[in-house]
Amino acid sequence: MQRDVIIACDFSSKEQTLQFLDQFEDVKPFVKIGMELYYACGPEIVREIKARGHRIFLDLKLHDIPNTVRKSMKVLSSLDVDMTNVHAAGGVEMMRQALEGLTREDGTRPLLIAVTQLTSTSEDVLHNELLITETIQDTIVAYARNARKAGLDGVVCSPLEAGIIKTGAGEDFITVTPGIRFADSKKDDQVRITTPERAKEIGSDFIVVGRPITAADDPVAAYKRCCEGFGV
Ligand code: C5P
Repeated sequence: MQRDVIIACDFSSKEQTLQFLDQFEDVKPFVKIGMELYYACGPEIVREIKARGHRIFLDLKLHDIPNTVRKSMKVLSSLDVDMTNVHAAGGVEMMRQALEGLTREDGTRPLLIAVTQLTSTSEDVLHNELLITETIQDTIVAYARNARKAGLDGVVCSPLEAGIIKTGAGEDFITVTPGIRFADSKKDDQVRITTPERAKEIGSDFIVVGRPITAADDPVAAYKRCCEGFGV
C-alpha cells in the first residue's frame, strides 16, 4: 500500500465526525477510527465513512486469546476496513490467528499491524510493573520481529523509532507513526514528536495526525500541508 497521511478522527460522536469530514470536498483522506468513536457509534460509523469513499484504519488494538482474536478479526474484516491492529504482547500465535481471521475467502485482507510497546509505557513501568528486564528499544525491535514472523505487515511506533524497526525487521516492514507536529505547532501531550518532513526522512510509511489537523482553523489546509511535508 502507498505511503499516506492518516487523520486520527478522535471525536466522540457521529455528528462531529461527519461534520469534520464534510469539509473535505475534493480529497478523501485516509482516516483512523479509534476505540472512543467505535465504542460510541459501533460498526455503523465504519460503514458510513467507508461508503463516503475514505480508507479506514480501525485502531482497536486487539489483545486476547488466539481463538477470540481470530473470530473477532473475521467480523472486522467483513467491515471492509483497510488497516487494523493487535498488541504484539499477545504473542506470535495470537498474531497468526489474527491474520487468519482477517483473511477473506477470496484471499484479500486489510493490512494488519502490531502495537509494540505503547508510547505511554516508560522504562520504569517496563522494568518495575511489567517485569521486563530488556530496554524499551530492544523490546520494540524484538516485538516487531515477532510480528514479522507471524506474517503481519508492520508496526505502530514513534516516528523516531522507524529507522531501528526497518533495520531490525526489514526495509519493507511498514511503520505507522503517530506523534507528528508541524515545527510551529503545539506539542499537546505528545513527547517524542517530529515533523512530517523528518518522518519521511526517517522512513515512516504512514503518519497518523490528529490535533494538528482536527483542531486547526482550516483543517483542509492543515491536511494538505501535512501531505506536502510528507511528500504524498
Ligand atoms: O492528536 P494527535 O496527533 O496527538 O493524535 C495521535 C493519534 O495517534 C491519537 O489517536 C493517539 O491515540 C494515537 N496514538 C499515539 N501514540 C501511540 C499510539 C497511538 O499518539 N503510540
